[in-house]
Amino acid sequence: MNKVKIIATGSYLPKKVLTNFDLEKMVDTSDEWIRTRTGIRERRIADEKEATSDLVVKAAHKALEMAKLKPSDIDAIIVATATPDTLFPSTACWVQKALGINGIPAFDISAACTGFIYGLIISESLIKNKACKRVLLAGAEALTKIVNWEDRSTCVLFGDGAGVAILEESKDDSGIISSYWAADGSLAELLYQPAGGSRMPATSETVSAKLHTIHMKGNDVFKHAVKNMGDSAIKVLKKAGISGEDIKYFIPHQANIRIIDATAERAKIATSKVYTNIERYGNMSAATIPIALDELNREGKLKKGDLILMNAFGAGFTWGAVILRW
Ligand code: ACO
Repeated sequence: MNKVKIIATGSYLPKKVLTNFDLEKMVDTSDEWIRTRTGIRERRIADEKEATSDLVVKAAHKALEMAKLKPSDIDAIIVATATPDTLFPSTACWVQKALGINGIPAFDISAACTGFIYGLIISESLIKNKACKRVLLAGAEALTKIVNWEDRSTCVLFGDGAGVAILEESKDDSGIISSYWAADGSLAELLYQPAGGSRMPATSETVSAKLHTIHMKGNDVFKHAVKNMGDSAIKVLKKAGISGEDIKYFIPHQANIRIIDATAERAKIATSKVYTNIERYGNMSAATIPIALDELNREGKLKKGDLILMNAFGAGFTWGAVILRW
């Protein structure tokens, strides 16, 4: 059975930049604390009228242009997001409306920061099983819309953006060569958005208590992230029959530079091979990996045959990794 590969990428970042120095004026924090604890210097903020699907559509047009395809050449839309435009319909359906390609399947994946990895694994399966030929997969977030700007332990971490990959069947040995995914729902309350769903529908009380914002026990999340990112990197390398030294680029989820460094060390991947943009964008959850991939791609750094390891951990908890031969 042929492999499934990425034929094009695109990304979009909102124009507005919020620096650590801006945050110093909003909460009791400092540029020094944020930089040394997380690696973040600044992040992008979607404007009031910009929803997640708006970011996806801009990134999708760039990917389609790279692939020299029209929207009508796509036959499934998948959006990985924790910040959908609306709880229903899916953000993928709003993207579909904007792209004007009705009649093909469109749906969202809810796997938080691991959403793009889950999306790669699902897209691979759909294409291999001939459920569709060409998937437009997005990882996109407007996380700053659900941040509590009075909570210094979370508001300094997140940013907005969208990344898109177009996938289809490979005719050679390029494509996904190894993958692994997992979740542990028993730890869900360590990182979640308590209100706004059927468990705690929106009321004026839930809104004033800011229960529609991100609630996170950062320290616990950190420990689980370090363990599971490391474990999944080791598992996919083993499954592919290669070592960390064979990897050309490691694209980890960009949540914290200390988690990234610990994961690279456990997977025995040299620092020079680790791609980071956390400094510029912060944690954009499902969007971090596809945006990083698009940056590397557009810089012309990805050469045919290069082995790329992508790896994420997020709310759920969910985690997983994919190795792709470019
Ligand atoms: N500025 C200054 N001080 C702060 C800030 C801030 N912005 N935030 C917290 N502090 C203080 C705390 O109050 C605490 O003070 P205390 O010792 O007096 O009580 C001290 O700094 C240390 O706090 P910790 O929470 O222990 O700091 P830590 O080193 O763990 O860093 C962080 C916090 C950055 C949140 C880290 O735990 C982390 O990155 N966690 C993982 C986040 C993550 O991976 N999320 C997953 C994906 S997100 C998703 O799925 C949507």
